[in-house]
Amino acid sequence: MNARASAHDKDTQVLARIRALSITIEQHNYRYYVLDDPQLPDAQYDQLMHDLRSLEQRYPQYAFEHSPTQTVGPTTRSSAFAPLAHLEPMFSINDGFDDDDAEDFDRRVKARLNLEEEQTLDYLCEPKLDGLAVNVLFESGHMRHAATRGDGKTGEDITHNMRTVLGEQFTLKGKNIPDRLEVRGEVFIRRSDLAKLNKQQIKNGAKPFANPRNAAAGSLRQIDPKITASRPLSVYFYGAGAVENSELPEQQSQLLTQFAQWGLPVTNLSKQVSGIKGCLAYHAAMLGKRDGIDFDMDGVVYKVNSREQQLALGHTARAPRWCLAHKFPAQEELTVVEAIEVQVGRTGAITPVARLKPVHVGGVIVSNATLHNQDEIERLNVRADDTVIVRRAGDVIPEVVKVLHDRRPSSAKAFDFPVRCPVCNSPIKLTEGGAIARCTGGLVCAAQRKGMLRHFVSRKAMDIDGLGEKLVDQLVDDEWITTPVDIYTLQYEQLIGRERMGEKSASNLLAAIEKSKSTTFARFLYALGIPLVGETTAQTLAQAYSSLEALQQADLESLEELEDIGPLVAQSLLDYFAEEGNQEMVQALINEQGIHWPEAAALPTSEETFFTGKTVVITGTFSEYGRSQLKTLLQSQGAKVTGSVSKKTDLVLVGENAGSKADKAEKLEVSTISEAQLAQILEQGDSYDALPVTDSES
Ligand code: IVH
Repeated sequence: MNARASAHDKDTQVLARIRALSITIEQHNYRYYVLDDPQLPDAQYDQLMHDLRSLEQRYPQYAFEHSPTQTVGPTTRSSAFAPLAHLEPMFSINDGFDDDDAEDFDRRVKARLNLEEEQTLDYLCEPKLDGLAVNVLFESGHMRHAATRGDGKTGEDITHNMRTVLGEQFTLKGKNIPDRLEVRGEVFIRRSDLAKLNKQQIKNGAKPFANPRNAAAGSLRQIDPKITASRPLSVYFYGAGAVENSELPEQQSQLLTQFAQWGLPVTNLSKQVSGIKGCLAYHAAMLGKRDGIDFDMDGVVYKVNSREQQLALGHTARAPRWCLAHKFPAQEELTVVEAIEVQVGRTGAITPVARLKPVHVGGVIVSNATLHNQDEIERLNVRADDTVIVRRAGDVIPEVVKVLHDRRPSSAKAFDFPVRCPVCNSPIKLTEGGAIARCTGGLVCAAQRKGMLRHFVSRKAMDIDGLGEKLVDQLVDDEWITTPVDIYTLQYEQLIGRERMGEKSASNLLAAIEKSKSTTFARFLYALGIPLVGETTAQTLAQAYSSLEALQQADLESLEELEDIGPLVAQSLLDYFAEEGNQEMVQALINEQGIHWPEAAALPTSEETFFTGKTVVITGTFSEYGRSQLKTLLQSQGAKVTGSVSKKTDLVLVGENAGSKADKAEKLEVSTISEAQLAQILEQGDSYDALPVTDSES
């Protein structure tokens, strides 16, 4: 083959690849924008766009005018909604995926503005909401109509539905209202609202939504506005389109303030920063907060703050040059189910899990996803060998949100829910009205034993450092430990010589086991793993009952009187302590193994205590208590807990890494006590005279 012929072949290949990519992207655009039913995680879509864009850059002769890289949304439209043209086009945003992309953006902006590299620009940073873009036209302050983004020039008329979202806000309040004004924003749904909506959907026999964005899009694009009105949609506005007979503020940040004054909802998470460094710090901070925020963000947006500079920068066919979406790691990815298995939890609950081909999602490697229960398996219609979209958002366990049935191979086998426990072969029974499948083996079941013991030693429970899940499993398999009591009779010889267990680790572990004997009532209660008794419930109980005996004698009514304790939790406690085996184990732990705690919250406020009438300040961190727990404890002892040290302070409780408050106590000669001393005081009960209080001068 000669050189010319092979160059020609290469060209044909490139052209074919560009065509294929364009068609695939168009198809996905249609599924995403029109059907609200995407068949690809966002990150994979971005990758297709990226591949197409770089081919077009290398072979500009094949960069066509109608390429998806040059247009904003889908070119095909569904007919359910009337088309509605925007007064000014709505653009997309260019994406960046790492710090380099962000720095390149900053350099490009400065070059175009003829600024020196060293100069810093002010940017407005905002969350990039993962919802549906809308354009709302206000005439003399009244909402005239609203549209989706569509292809950027023409969208779908969703006026009636948008009215239900805006409610009161469809008339602007205040001054400086332009004759005509287009505002752009994002309609989205909060995670907590989605959880409620999905419960409702399931109750009504409808399909739950795979993620907040689908829920928002599906709800806004309802023919019947009544349905939209019943959906908990939210909106934040972030930009303006056409403006007539009025001047908008000079800065992007001021525009948001103006929106808020007109009564339009805006996010309170936006921030004006200096330079790209400020942008990157914002990105990092928001990524850190991501899990704790009640809505999905797929990244943050940087906007040149000066609107004059924005105008000077202009836009390409697709996106403005003055803003960049710096994406976060994707929360959804595509992978394959290698098998479906069931897991046996510490209370015997049988949960089906999908074993996945490992995949990076939201910054971690995911190889398992919960399938919840048999109903969920049926709803998803998932089988081994299926290609699925997995999602990991917030702190939740990764989930399979969608099965790509088009890709199901003929080998895919349906899953048979087991009737016997895969670990101990005991029968599986449906409990809680059929909602939960449980192994009936109890502690005969090694899986339940392991689960119960892992929980017992865990950090928030007895906190035995060095006794990890693997070691617990080994010790159970070797039959060295069956119940928590056995942990306290472990011998050096039983530990030494195991995998990664030298002399040092073995004696450290024994020391940690010994140390765990001195604990708190709340930790101990939590460690027992009583069904439905989590950390908070355990704390509530420990505060309400002066001793284990008092708790064991409590009846249903008095338990239910406590905050956050419902009939199910109360019954679960009674059932637990009614069981003779549990009683014996608890007694053995306390009386034979010496587990103990300060009977602190026990003391009623009416009795005179060491702390009665004292003004106390807490500073630093503590190993046994959280700060708020300590505060409640001291208050229950009659102390007044305040925030800052003054001459009126009687006592400062000093933890680890205490800062200026401890210094101030020293300066003002206020007495201090340590956590260990506090424990002593609490334990000594009524002999408060023997105060182990250090004087700050000594
Ligand atoms: S600015 C003028 N700001 O992201 C530039 N867009 O992927 C375009 N989006 O169509 C809009 N949060 O729907 C802007 N804080 C934000 C945004 C945001 C989400 C959406 C918007 C846009 C899409 C582009």
